[in-house]
Amino acid sequence: MDRSPPSDGTALPRLITPLPGPRSRAWIDRLAAVECPAITARRARRARALQVDQDDPIVWARAWGANVEDVDGNVLVDLTAGFGAAGAGHAAPTVVAALQQQSERLLHAMGDAFPDPRRIELMERLCALTGMERVILGSSGSDAVEAALKTAALASGRPGVLVFDRSYHGLSYGALAASDYKAADFRGPFAGQLAEHVRVSAFGGPLPSPAELREAGVGALLVEPIQGRGGVRTPPPGWLPRLRALADQAGAVLIYDEIQTGFWRTGPALAFQDEGARPDLLCLGKGMGGGFPISACLGSEAVMQAWGHSKGEAIHTQTFLGNPLGCAMALAAIDRLEELAPRVPVLGDWLEEQARARGLGLRGRGLMRGLTLPSGPDALALSRGLMSRGYIALPAGEVRPGEDPREAVVLCLTPPLCVSEEQLAGFLAALDEVRA
Ligand SMILES: Cc1ncc(COP(=O)(O)O)c(C=O)c1O
Repeated sequence: MDRSPPSDGTALPRLITPLPGPRSRAWIDRLAAVECPAITARRARRARALQVDQDDPIVWARAWGANVEDVDGNVLVDLTAGFGAAGAGHAAPTVVAALQQQSERLLHAMGDAFPDPRRIELMERLCALTGMERVILGSSGSDAVEAALKTAALASGRPGVLVFDRSYHGLSYGALAASDYKAADFRGPFAGQLAEHVRVSAFGGPLPSPAELREAGVGALLVEPIQGRGGVRTPPPGWLPRLRALADQAGAVLIYDEIQTGFWRTGPALAFQDEGARPDLLCLGKGMGGGFPISACLGSEAVMQAWGHSKGEAIHTQTFLGNPLGCAMALAAIDRLEELAPRVPVLGDWLEEQARARGLGLRGRGLMRGLTLPSGPDALALSRGLMSRGYIALPAGEVRPGEDPREAVVLCLTPPLCVSEEQLAGFLAALDEVRA
């Protein structure tokens, strides 16, 4: 049997064992013996206790485009783009070439002390793309959010932060303090170590007055233009411009977290461009590095000047700041994402037609979508059924008291932008089967 996935990554699933296969199971047993038990879900064990039909994860061996091959040789279609990080496709050839070329020259430079040319080129590229003027690079989305929060505190002189219900900005302490998604689980155990400077408002809902914000010491408004993990929630038209006006009136800094929505995921290069209300600070990550953990906080000149000049020892830096491999890969990944961008509205519109024809709700924009399911299996059951047919898609959202779980939890689709129409059609056929 030919076990190599097609190099362009547009194949339909090809399953040769039940999932997870024997090799995946063996690896997961080894994993369970060494990893902190909170990290990977040992679903089979939990499932037995809960008497539900769940199973362990598969173990990934290789990935191309929108395809993933597991250690048993099963080929699947990844409709998550690996949490959005493979927006340009898994192992995009130009990204791999950039990685190889850079790896022959320089693997590591010295962050704030000694830069390298790729880091400078990447920051120039990011500024040209976003219209921002200055950059702080990081290694994860959470890093970008923390850099933005620090910058906002310096620029506004106020420590308070306004965020929105179900927001997700990452799990490092500063980002966690500003996240409201599943607060009891995510923040609860650490509440004693989280500063109480954060206020939560309804996402897309009425806003506090400028006076209220000033009195509460709020100097930053932090928002995802479309919420991702919170359930692919899009605010009503005109809400982001109102947020912009509120920030201006309150003398606060407006931060967009576009870690999930950035780089043409929703259609335009940045999701906020649909409404035109520009932020003061912008957080990017995920797909930016083509698979390398790299992120960026970008800002206007005025806001970034609040840091002042380096006095010889940078007060914000990291060992791996602007890692040359990551910068080289990001430059190639951004070019590839831009090439793929015209596909996003076309495939997004087609998905809308297909969802309408099936009586399903579809949230989000472009290729950042949440399917709501009026009847049949819920998003979690559907995700399992799809997995057994070779399609990887995860639920997103959170059910709060009094809410309809079918509205609050969606099946989340953030495929690589190179996903083929055939793969999306295959997913819809599998969805029809699982819902039947
Ligand atoms: C909108 C948003 N912000 C921040 C983060 C955190 O990024 P990371 O997991 O790379 O720290 C995520 C991750 O899912 C995200 O979706």
